Amino acid sequence: MGSIQKKPHALCIPAPAQGHINPMLKLAKILHSKGVHITFVNTEFNHQRLLRSQGSDALHGLPSFCFEAIPDGLPPPENPDATQDVPSLCKSVDNTCLGPFKSLLTKLNASSSPVTCIVADVLMGFTHDAATEFDIPEIVLWTSGVGSLMCLHEYPNLLEIGLMPKDSGVLEDGYLDTKIDCVPTMPGIRLKDMVSFFRNTNPGDEYMIQFLCLQVERAKRASAVIFNTFHELESDLLEMLGSIFPPCYEIGPLNLLEKKLVDESVSSLKSNLWKEEHECLKWLDSKPPSSVIYVNFGSITVMTHQHLVEFCWGLAKSNYSFLWIIRPDLVVDNSAMLPPEFLEETNSRGMLASWCPQEQVLNHASIGGFLTHSGWNSTLESISSGVPMISWPFFGDQQPNCWSCCNKWEVAMEIDNDVKREEVANLVIELMNGERGTELRKNAIDLKNSAEKACASPFGSSIVNLDKKTIGLLKVID
Ligand code: UDX
Repeated sequence: MGSIQKKPHALCIPAPAQGHINPMLKLAKILHSKGVHITFVNTEFNHQRLLRSQGSDALHGLPSFCFEAIPDGLPPPENPDATQDVPSLCKSVDNTCLGPFKSLLTKLNASSSPVTCIVADVLMGFTHDAATEFDIPEIVLWTSGVGSLMCLHEYPNLLEIGLMPKDSGVLEDGYLDTKIDCVPTMPGIRLKDMVSFFRNTNPGDEYMIQFLCLQVERAKRASAVIFNTFHELESDLLEMLGSIFPPCYEIGPLNLLEKKLVDESVSSLKSNLWKEEHECLKWLDSKPPSSVIYVNFGSITVMTHQHLVEFCWGLAKSNYSFLWIIRPDLVVDNSAMLPPEFLEETNSRGMLASWCPQEQVLNHASIGGFLTHSGWNSTLESISSGVPMISWPFFGDQQPNCWSCCNKWEVAMEIDNDVKREEVANLVIELMNGERGTELRKNAIDLKNSAEKACASPFGSSIVNLDKKTIGLLKVID
């Protein structure tokens, strides 16, 4: 008797946050377009949010693309639409999700299409135990840049040689500017550019370092690690990590591959936890090419009221038109009240919204620059659109992303953490029409072209990694 090939069935499980659900859903849709049966697992909390933001039909899927939900273990929050606290969520998921995840696997394996591969976000490290117990191969998705993985990989050495603060508390003046010159391929990187938790200044930092280092160790047991990046951007780093990790493949930018590969049957499945406001696209239509600065700090960043005010007056002083996305929970204590004088002064050239279709915005001809927190998805989406950036990193991987954008790829300028209106205005003017801004735009366009090449069929590096390497791991022969 010949061998029977089971239909590949991938169980895709993102970490429960917007910046992780987006790339995993894109990957799942891409795999589906290659004939893979998908079960996509959200937390119950996010499943409910998606139903509210996208409508109750949004998650019906297809017989070959199903949604499931497992509890995250946290008590119901006061505001069901606010971003969850990251350390509490990581701790709860790691402690409570394995049981419900294994029950789900048991249920699916009893069906006519058993799971042939788990595709898990690196932060969902508990899934490795299930993969081992059920003897199913696992692919890990690293949703950020390779630079942040390199920082995490180096952390134990840096701690050992005394370059990282051991005890939690306030750092001495100037400590953040200490050069950490021994991170390979990241010359001149400072402590302030490393993964922010390394500073150990906030209550959750110590837990987050331990948690992230543990997930990196767990990822070493996977069949492969795939990255939402592309060869020309980070192959130097990936080559260095190649000897330490399982096979590593770049398969991004997923936002470009999604556009090229995903078929109509699933293209309408969306992952935004907030309702998109499309009026801003019409407003952008009325603006000249490259004339608008787009401002958006993603799904987790919070700022003080004072910083909000500095951004307001900086944008006003720049005299450029702006599209500014202000999430309802962007400002601490929900104090996102903009000064009435600012609203009056910028009424004719400012557009405000609380959530937007970001990829469409970044691809709009009127956008000339992006003031961003440097979340990895925003970084890749901006690069894929050839849009240069001003970076105001908030936490986690955003600091190394910012460092790479400013120093390695030269597509961004950094703004001081304690932001002041003069600096905002000067950097916006420089980015939109200055000499440095012109250089950064040229570099961003060059990278956009490289990203397009990486995703071009049939020989683009990301396409080849997807077709020849990743898909192969999903096919199980009995
Ligand atoms: C988080 C981390 O902060 C980030 O650093 C990490 O790499 C992933 O998880 P987040 O802060 O939300 O993500 O930033 P980002 O990675 O940029 O992801 C935000 C996503 O939401 C992007 O895909 C963006 O297109 C989308 N988005 C954001 C919208 O569609 N509309 C908006 O108004 C804002």
